[in-house]
Amino acid sequence: MNKIIIETENLSKVFTIGGQDIKALNGVDLKVAGGEFISIIGPSGSGKTTLLNLIGLLEQPSSGTVSFEGQDVSKLRESELDDLRLKQIGFIFQTFNLMATFTALENVTFPMEITHVPEKERLDRAKALLDRLGLAERMHHKPKELSAGESQRVAIARALANEPILLLADEPTGNLDSNTTKEISELLQRLNNEYGIAVILVTHDNQVARAASRTLRMVDGRLDSDSG
Ligand SMILES: Nc1ncnc2c1ncn2[C@@H]1O[C@H](COP(=O)(O)OP(=O)(O)O)[C@@H](O)[C@H]1O
Ligand SMILES: [Mg+2]
Repeated sequence: MNKIIIETENLSKVFTIGGQDIKALNGVDLKVAGGEFISIIGPSGSGKTTLLNLIGLLEQPSSGTVSFEGQDVSKLRESELDDLRLKQIGFIFQTFNLMATFTALENVTFPMEITHVPEKERLDRAKALLDRLGLAERMHHKPKELSAGESQRVAIARALANEPILLLADEPTGNLDSNTTKEISELLQRLNNEYGIAVILVTHDNQVARAASRTLRMVDGRLDSDSG
C-alpha cells in the first residue's frame, strides 16, 4: 500500500441558512493512498461536492480535520495552503470552467504562470499534455469552438499542468453524452495508471464509478459503504 496522502477524521460541515442548520457532512473518515483511484457515488444533496471542496482545501470544515501527507492543514499558513492547492491538487468540474477568452493552450499554461514555471517550460509542458490528451489539433481553439468532450480534456490538461499528486473530479461526465462519458472515464483511468496520480471521482453514474478500484457511497453526509 502506498503512503496515505489524504486523511479526513470525523469531518463535518454545517451550513446555516435562514437560522437553520444543514449538516452537509456528518463525521467522515476517509483515507486515500497515493496513486489510488476512488469513486464516490450517492444521491444529490448527500454531501459529495462538500467533501471534495474540503479535501481540495477550497472550504474549511466546521469540525474534524483534513490531513495532507500527514500534515493537519488547519495548522498551515495561508501561503502554504495556496501552495498545496496550486501544486498538489488538480480539480475538474461538470461545467469544465475554462476561461472563455483563452485558447486551449492558454488555459493550460495559465496555472503554470501562477506558479512561476518559466515560459518555455510552460509551453512545452502544456503542448505535451494537450498532445497526450489527443488535442494537438485543437491547441489554438477557444472553448466555444470545442466539443464538450474536448473541453473536458482541456480542463483535465489544465488540472495536470502543475503535476499534482491528487486529481479531484466533481461529476466530470455530468454534461457529456454516453460515448464521451466513456472516453473521459477511460482517460481518467489511463492517467491514474500511467502517471500514478490519485483520483477521487464523484459521479451519479454507476458505470463511470467502475473506473475506480474502490467505490464509496455517500448518504446524508456520511460515507456509507466500501465496496473494495
Ligand atoms: N454553500 C452552501 N450553502 C448552504 N448549503 C449548502 C452549501 N453547499 C451545500 N449545501 C447543502 O449541503 C448539502 C450537501 O450538498 P452537496 O455537497 O452539494 O451535495 P452533492 O454534491 O452530493 O449533491 C445539501 O443539502 C446542500 O443544499
Ligand atoms: Mg455535487
